[in-house]
Amino acid sequence: MSKKLYIETLGCAMNERDSDHIIAELSDKEGYGLTNNPKEADLILINTCSVREKPEKKLFSEIGQYAKIKKHDAKIGVCGCTASHLGDEILKKTKAVNFVLGARNVSKISQIIHKDRVAWVDIDYDDSAYVFSQGNISNVRGFVNISIGCDKKCSYCIVPKTRGKEISIPADLIINEVKRLVDNGVKEVLLLGQNVNSYGKNFSTIHRAINFTQLLSEISNINGLHRIRFTSPHPLHMDDEFILEFANNKKICKSIHMPLQSGSTKILRDMRRGYTKEWFLNRAEKMKSLIPQLTIGTDIIVGFPGESEEDFLDTLDVLEKVSFDTMYSFIYSTRPHTEAKELLESGKIELVDEDIAKNRLARLQDRHKELLGITNQAQLGQIHEILFESYKEGMLEGRSDTNKLVRVSGDESLVGSICNARISEVRGAQLFGELV
Ligand code: SAH
Ligand code: SF4
Ligand code: F3S
Repeated sequence: MSKKLYIETLGCAMNERDSDHIIAELSDKEGYGLTNNPKEADLILINTCSVREKPEKKLFSEIGQYAKIKKHDAKIGVCGCTASHLGDEILKKTKAVNFVLGARNVSKISQIIHKDRVAWVDIDYDDSAYVFSQGNISNVRGFVNISIGCDKKCSYCIVPKTRGKEISIPADLIINEVKRLVDNGVKEVLLLGQNVNSYGKNFSTIHRAINFTQLLSEISNINGLHRIRFTSPHPLHMDDEFILEFANNKKICKSIHMPLQSGSTKILRDMRRGYTKEWFLNRAEKMKSLIPQLTIGTDIIVGFPGESEEDFLDTLDVLEKVSFDTMYSFIYSTRPHTEAKELLESGKIELVDEDIAKNRLARLQDRHKELLGITNQAQLGQIHEILFESYKEGMLEGRSDTNKLVRVSGDESLVGSICNARISEVRGAQLFGELV
């Protein structure tokens, strides 16, 4: 009987991608099969996120829970971003953990599982080939890393510490991987990086000059590939060349994630984002004027130290003007190894009162919901191309080119196909359609 792996994945798409890689490595090299019951697992892995404090705090209570229910000789490993920055502190804090493996070291998973009480979190370790071992290719969507790490210095963010320096993956490797996925039936790829549009700045080996826009164009030449998405681009690097390629290339889905973080130019400066409110609005408006059906998603932090009511009103103003589709919003959380933490400790900036921050978050989310309700209503009667990803409760479910989740009644055999559907009903955030 094969050994069983239970894996819990927190955080972003990078971590999901890394978990896929871990699963493939352990299956190929060590004969592990997946289980969704931690009680019967031989190996329990927690792939952690440290971008905010709360989930990180929960880690130790979670380890305790797993330790109580696990099989007597089962091992527990902590991987991912919290593993990177806490390292062997995790081993010091709890005896229940057998090993700790940093986010940049996931390709060593089949070696570390044979060790006990070790932490491998060497941030300079780089093996760009690691990103390409993925086992369970679904027949619809594939994730492909195009770069790892981040060289930005956003003052609130721990990611550059946990994921290390930014390195782009050689373009030919990316293209070969996309071709391999397409040969296995994948229709849509999601290109991943913390800052995808700085692609091409640093490679681990000597490489031909290529930027993100050129990479998109080369990938779009792959026969049999229907759709390209990517996350996340940085608003600062959205130049005109990129916007034109994005608008004109038919394979690039007409939905983009533009992480605003704040609408106040002063706060953006303190966050070290490198752009102003006006630049962000200019980029969004330019794209909307070229692509009327475009949807724009975003990430917003409220309550960054020093944020005044006026600053927050600037954020609401951008929300009003851009009318974001998906919006991930958070209250600022102080993280170790960040500039904002140092400035707070030295008294140069001050935390926003917790109740005020909570109130701002609620106002932001309420207004977003209202605006989304209006834009969703406007979808009624529109026809979209939907790539069906699954079949649930008698309905097909898939995403439009513009990244709207749409449910349609139809035959299960259509999963994996791209079909036209007319939006016939809007229930809150949920869109329903009919095949046409
Ligand atoms: N590279 C991506 C972001 C990765 S982190 C980008 O630049 O868009 C995902 C999101 O978490 C960020 O966009 C930000 O909105 C949020 N985030 C990061 N650090 C945070 C912190 N200290 N407190 C609250 N939210 C944070
Ligand atoms: Fe963090 Fe900024 Fe890098 Fe995004 S671009 S991962 S927010 S440092
Ligand atoms: Fe992703 Fe969380 Fe790490 S957002 S990069 S898993 S800190």
